[in-house]
Amino acid sequence: MDLRTFIGMLEERGELKRVKIEVDPTYEMSAVMKRLEKEDGPAVLFDNPSRYTGTKILGNLYSSERRIALGVGVAADSIERKDIVQKLIAPLYAKAQDSLVAPKLVGGGGLDRKTITEGIDVLRHVPVLTHCERDGGPYISAGMVVAKYPETKDRVIQVIEMQVKGPDRIAISPVTPMMPQAFQRAEELNQPLEIAIAIGVAPDLMLASCSPMEFVGADKYELAGAFRGSPIDVVMCRTVDLEVPADAEYVIEGIVMPNERAEMGPYGDYFRTYYWKESKPVIVVKAITCRHDAIYQAILADGNECINMMALPIEWTLLNRLRKTFPFIDQVYLPRSSCGHHVIISMSKFREEDSKEVLYHILSNPFLPKHAVVVDCDVDVSDFREVDWAIVSRVQADRDVVIMPGLSGSPLDPSAGPGGLSARMGIDATRSLRIRKEKYERSDVPQAVKKKIDGLWNQLFDE
Ligand SMILES: Cc1cc2nc3c(=O)[nH]c(=O)nc-3n(C[C@H](O)[C@H](O)[C@H](O)COP(=O)(O)O)c2cc1C
Repeated sequence: MDLRTFIGMLEERGELKRVKIEVDPTYEMSAVMKRLEKEDGPAVLFDNPSRYTGTKILGNLYSSERRIALGVGVAADSIERKDIVQKLIAPLYAKAQDSLVAPKLVGGGGLDRKTITEGIDVLRHVPVLTHCERDGGPYISAGMVVAKYPETKDRVIQVIEMQVKGPDRIAISPVTPMMPQAFQRAEELNQPLEIAIAIGVAPDLMLASCSPMEFVGADKYELAGAFRGSPIDVVMCRTVDLEVPADAEYVIEGIVMPNERAEMGPYGDYFRTYYWKESKPVIVVKAITCRHDAIYQAILADGNECINMMALPIEWTLLNRLRKTFPFIDQVYLPRSSCGHHVIISMSKFREEDSKEVLYHILSNPFLPKHAVVVDCDVDVSDFREVDWAIVSRVQADRDVVIMPGLSGSPLDPSAGPGGLSARMGIDATRSLRIRKEKYERSDVPQAVKKKIDGLWNQLFDE
């Protein structure tokens, strides 16, 4: 399903609202997006952005996991939050890994597009949002970056935050391993690295590009093709030797010159604090192409949407990997409020030590969990109130808390030490098998009565 079909579908379901009045891309749109996100609200289409007549701006598309599931074609209406990964996302990835589909090169340049190669001025043509008060400028936040590793020509695709620094200059901050390796190799060879940024791509492609390469191990166009069950149509860029999605709303083409750097920052990042200024590689923009009535997509860099897109594939990977060693694990959840660095795991333990072994294992994981909590299967991992209750009723701090100092942490974590060094903490909130089972029994009304009342519920409050 392409982005425009998805927008239409969401609008029909009442999951996308249009803003008709004029709203400014500097701060104002982010204020609307933040409030909608806080209220678990719909996606938003700004029909009338100030300064960018004829353009629409899309926000909060993936701020709900259900919308992500819908966008990648797995039905999600009646599913509970805690089951989304196990029942929808895990089967999607499992099937995809065995059935990768190569992208299809579409001749003739694909859709009719506006192309700008002379007098380039990114902000004149692309309505890039400025999100947070101290942001150093406008940031492209939903840009799918495509490059090729210099010698092997293996494709590297990733969503990366980028700051517009000048009419034809964009600073870029690739952190996860694949893209920086390509940048570094090009620099060692003293070669420019060709880059394309596709903004406004199909939901299945967006999820694939946010899936960590080291976990999925596949070309992301092929992974997206597998999600879709048919090839992703791609076209060649105008000025660089890279394939981009034929239906992308905007494409920015350029090259990263070896050893050119610019200050990037500050910017509000997914830790919901500011990432301060750092010297970063720079893209020299060579061309901008866009659809005639282009829709620009923005993601709040310090919002749930960003964390959702990263957390879902990680939850799937962790569930998959952990179950190979600990088959009794039931669910894995990364609460979005903790920026994806907390992990809640539910399990049915057989031995007293099972829960601690799971904790040590997960805390040694390189994907940067900062705090982990293990709970029994009667606790809903996706409901913070339930986890909180398990902690207060099943934990003794001197027995159930493990601390591992001096491990790697996120460089964005403001509390981390030099180089991002961080302590990690695990809380074992499972029942101790050494304590009488009845002591842990949850108080409740009889099940049969509960069922009866549920059946009568709609009649109870009739006027
Ligand atoms: C909105 C958004 C912004 C992101 N910004 C960055 C970024 O600036 N730098 C980075 O390295 N990763 C960023 N990521 C994360 C990567 O896209 C993600 O970790 C991806 O899986 C990495 O792919 P790779 O493992 O193939 O490198 C961002 C993700 C999202 C959803």
